Amino acid sequence: MNQSSIFLEGEGDNYFLRNKAALEVRSGASEITWLGQALSPFKDKINTVLEIGCSNGAKLEQICGLLDAKGKGIDPSKQAVDEGNRRLSRSGTQLHVGTASRLPFESLSFDFVYFGFCLYLLDRQDLFAATAEADRVLKFGGFLAITDFDPIHRYKRPYHHKDGVFSFKQDYSKVFTESGLYYLVSKNSFSHRQPFFDADGNERVSTTLLFKEIDAY
Ligand SMILES: C[S@@+](CC[C@H](N)C(=O)[O-])C[C@H]1O[C@@H](n2cnc3c(N)ncnc32)[C@H](O)[C@@H]1O
Repeated sequence: MNQSSIFLEGEGDNYFLRNKAALEVRSGASEITWLGQALSPFKDKINTVLEIGCSNGAKLEQICGLLDAKGKGIDPSKQAVDEGNRRLSRSGTQLHVGTASRLPFESLSFDFVYFGFCLYLLDRQDLFAATAEADRVLKFGGFLAITDFDPIHRYKRPYHHKDGVFSFKQDYSKVFTESGLYYLVSKNSFSHRQPFFDADGNERVSTTLLFKEIDAY
């Protein structure tokens, strides 16, 4: 079965239930604080934010607070989305059940699109659909950010919570920058064990901030 279907059919909920406690105290996630600082000079131009792989929207809530923007989120976990929508009901931010490869949003409708640590979970047959969808909904002159594993060499390994599912680790920002249509603005390298650069390449995680050129030529 396709990995997106596996997450829609319960693995997304399982992630949420395993991490619920941690997701409740995400008001100060360091990668989001970093993004808020990097984007602060553009705060006035960022009114609409989309997080792909948002779980219950805790980090989306944080970035929207920092940028004073309205948010949309998408995640395959119905339980996470329902819990998030209850919490965010008066904020103007709204979460949807779905996956990265098919976004239920209008073209060129967001100022900032964020892949929130989900690309490593995507079936390889969905990767180009997901990156194309993010590009479709992001305005020219908008920002795109990706938090994900960032090893020296790309590799695949079994996802230890579910048989038959794999984690695919590589630098996803290159899919965008190699097109020539996106510019690497800044990169924050850290790991799950420390909030700063990790000398062990297999531990590295990064948040990359990209700009979608208004006219790349
Ligand atoms: C590691 S969690 C990250 C959650 C949150 N963004 C954060 O940083 O705390 C990965 C999330 O990606 C979601 N996910 C898995 N497959 C996905 C897909 N095909 N499209 C969008 N999200 C997906 C999972 O349900 C899960 O909530």
